[in-house]
Amino acid sequence: MPPVVEIRKVSEYAGQEVILQGWLYNLRESGKLLFPLFRDGTGIIQGVVVKSAVPPEVFDAVRGLTQESSLRVTGKVRADKRAPGGFEMDVLSVEVLQCIPAETPYPITPKDHGIEFLMDHRHLWLRSTRQRAILGVRHEIIKAVRDFFDDRGFTLVDTPIFTPAACEGTTTLFEVNYFDEKAYLTQSGQLYNEANAMAVGKTYCFGPTFRAEKSKTRRHLTEFWMVEPEVAFAHLDDAMALGEQMIAFILERVLEKRRPELQTLERKIENLERIKLPFPRMSYDEAVKILQGKGSEIQWGGDFGGTDETLLSEGAERPLLVHRYPSAIKAFYMAPDPLRPEVALCVDMLAPEGYGEIIGGGERLADLALLEQRIEEHKLPRKAFEWYLDLRRYGTVPHSGFGMGIERAVAWICGLEHVRETIPFPRMLYRLTP
Ligand code: 4AD
Ligand code: MG
Repeated sequence: MPPVVEIRKVSEYAGQEVILQGWLYNLRESGKLLFPLFRDGTGIIQGVVVKSAVPPEVFDAVRGLTQESSLRVTGKVRADKRAPGGFEMDVLSVEVLQCIPAETPYPITPKDHGIEFLMDHRHLWLRSTRQRAILGVRHEIIKAVRDFFDDRGFTLVDTPIFTPAACEGTTTLFEVNYFDEKAYLTQSGQLYNEANAMAVGKTYCFGPTFRAEKSKTRRHLTEFWMVEPEVAFAHLDDAMALGEQMIAFILERVLEKRRPELQTLERKIENLERIKLPFPRMSYDEAVKILQGKGSEIQWGGDFGGTDETLLSEGAERPLLVHRYPSAIKAFYMAPDPLRPEVALCVDMLAPEGYGEIIGGGERLADLALLEQRIEEHKLPRKAFEWYLDLRRYGTVPHSGFGMGIERAVAWICGLEHVRETIPFPRMLYRLTP
C-alpha cells in the first residue's frame, strides 16, 4: 500500500505513488483529459487523469465527481513547474467515499454569493481557500501570543467564565441562571488575573469573553477571545511597552510563517512589514485636539466612537497608543493619574489602516479606600467584590495589564472588512447560528 500523505507534504514524495484523502475542489475536462483539483485541508493539488492510461471505470468515476465529493485517490506525484504548488498528481485510481448527487449540489459554488447566504452556510464556507487562510493566520497569532508570554516567564492561569459581577460595565452583561442565583458570563478575566498576578507575579489568561453588545458594527462580537496579561509591580508605561512588544512579536511571526495565507487574502504585506518599534504615544487630550481638527464633534470628556478611532488611525503607519482617558468614561478599576486625578492611567492601542482599538488596559487602582469609593460610585454590588478588595487589604502593590481581542487583531492583520470572518462561528447581535 502506498503511504497516505498530506498535500502540504507531497514535495517529499516526488516520483512516488501516494494516497491522498480529501475532497474534490474543482474539475476541468479537456477531451480525453480530466483535471480534478483535490483539497485535503492542508493544501490543493491538481490531478491529471489520462483516458488511455487508466481503466475506463476510473476515468468515469472522476468525471462524475461533483464539488466537495469525498474521496481517497491513489496516484504518482510529479514535479511540474507550471503547477501552483510545484507538483501534480497522475491519478491511478479513486475510491469515492461520497459522490454528492448533481441534483443536490454543494451549496457554495465558485460564483459570488451574498454575505448573509455565506454566513448561513458558515459550516461549509469554512472550507474555502480564503477562510482556511484566515483560520491559519488566527492560529499563528494565538500561538505567537502564547510563545511571547511563555518565553517571558508568564504563567498561564485560567479565569472563570461564570462570574458573580461585572468587570466592564453593567450594560453589556449576559445573565444566566445559576441554580438559585444569577451569574454572568465573563466580560474579561482581569479581576481574577489581578489575584493570580499577586500569586505568580506575571500571569496571562486566554479565553472566551462575552459582551451583550447591542451595536451592530464591523468590530463587535458578543463572544470573542481575549488574551490578558497582568503584571505585579508594573506601571502604565510597562503595560504600554509590553503591548507594543507583543504586537511586534506577533507580526514578525505571522510574516515569517503565514505569507502564503496573507497573499491569498490579498493583504498589503508591506503595510505590516514597515511596522517597527517603538509605537507612537499620544495623550487623550492631544487625540481630542487632532480629532476636532479633522472635523469630529468630539468634546473633552467624551468617548471615541468607531469613526473617531478610524480618523485617528487612518494614514498612520504604526499602531498608536492613546493614554490617559478621562476617568469618568473608563472602568471602575482604573488608577487615577496622581498628577491629574481626572484622567486614568489607561491606554488603548489603535491599529493602523482604520482598524481602531485592538488593546485596552492600564494601571489598576491599588488603594483600598479609593477602590471602595469607586465600587460605590459605579453602583456595583459591594458583596460580590469583597474578594477583590482583599487583594488591596493584603499586600497591595501597583500592577498593570491589558486585554487584546484576538478577532480584532486577526481582522487587522488579515486586512478583513469585518470581524465576522475572524472566528469560525461568530456570535453577533443578530446571529447565533450555525
Ligand atoms: O477595552 P476592553 O473592554 O478591556 C477589558 O476588558 C480589560 N478588562 C482588559 C484588561 O485590561 N485585562 O477590551 C479589551 C479588548 C479590546 O481592546 C478589543 O480588542 C476587544 O477586547 N474587545 C472586543 N472584541 C470583539 N468584540 C467586542 N465586543 C469587544 N469588546 C472588546
Ligand atoms: Mg476598551
